Amino acid sequence: MITRIARAAKRLQEQSSVCRHEVPYAKSQAAIIQTDVKMYSMKQAKVTVIGAGNVGATAAQRLAEKNIASVALVDIMGGVAAGKALDLMEARPVELHDRLIFGGDDYSITAGSDVVLMTAGLARKPGMSRDDLLAKNAQIVKACIEAAHAQSPDAIFITVSNPVDAMTQLSHQILSAKGVPNNKIIGMAGVLDSSRMAFFIAEALNVSVKNIQPCVMGGHGDDMVPVARYTTVAGVPLPDLLPEAKINEIIERTQKGGIEIVNLLGTGSAFYAPASSSVEMIDAILNDKKQILPSSCMLTGEYGIDGVYVGVPAKLGKDGIEEILELKLNDQELADLKSSAESVKTNVAKMNELMSAAA
Ligand code: 2OP
Repeated sequence: MITRIARAAKRLQEQSSVCRHEVPYAKSQAAIIQTDVKMYSMKQAKVTVIGAGNVGATAAQRLAEKNIASVALVDIMGGVAAGKALDLMEARPVELHDRLIFGGDDYSITAGSDVVLMTAGLARKPGMSRDDLLAKNAQIVKACIEAAHAQSPDAIFITVSNPVDAMTQLSHQILSAKGVPNNKIIGMAGVLDSSRMAFFIAEALNVSVKNIQPCVMGGHGDDMVPVARYTTVAGVPLPDLLPEAKINEIIERTQKGGIEIVNLLGTGSAFYAPASSSVEMIDAILNDKKQILPSSCMLTGEYGIDGVYVGVPAKLGKDGIEEILELKLNDQELADLKSSAESVKTNVAKMNELMSAAA
């Protein structure tokens, strides 16, 4: 048994695609799964996933099963995190991947992570807007980001909790005060919104999703900005392929993509596509892909917008956001982007007011 584990550990060390540092698999509290985790220390990419709900657990599964990273899954409900981690580890002999997933409620298990994915928070219920979640989720994000940073000060932080642009700005308020640069504080939404748009276009044209290059900018709200002119199908601009009315229908469905799922589920919100989208960003970062993905970034003058998190195309690589791309938008597109940024600013102001009132 010991030999088998030692062999597996050696193989992991050899196969690891990102070998940045020793991952200190800390000795844990009762909630951590009792597998071979503590028996070896190895070099491989490590991701902290905060929140063992649907988005977090699905992201953990995909990160491991796609052989991207080992995962420390933390949740206030330590047993749920530990149980899901153990369940995923027990699938390993069938899935045959080389990554570890371990879970609990003690942040010591997250130490030395390369990326922190913040998914914890309440999900929307039917009739609830993302903004209704503001006050509650702000408290959750603050506590979790502080705890995660204490264990992984060099990590890249990706926030998913809603309302995502405001929650990413809150993460920025906390992390930048600790010296974390803007390029390491990102929000996930644009990949999800673009993926939804791509799916709707592929359906409308009856072509492979692989042919669609969507472009969605702005905040992750009803006023997000799907840009038809920069959306292409096998290189052809969307307006050359579909009538305006159909494009507008796709744009509206994209903007309301989240609530469409909320209404269907009855309880909870989308998680497969949000998890896939988060994992695509993490893969781009850990494997230094220099992949251009729409990401919520702190703008400092780009597009004439300053001091707020908004979705824009960004190059993701080992340093997180390595470049923000400035597309040549026409007057209407730019006005829509600025108006979306204003909504985020209003939300952030509301969030800060609520937080200081609660302090
Ligand atoms: C969505 O759009 C949960 O905000 C997420 O589905």
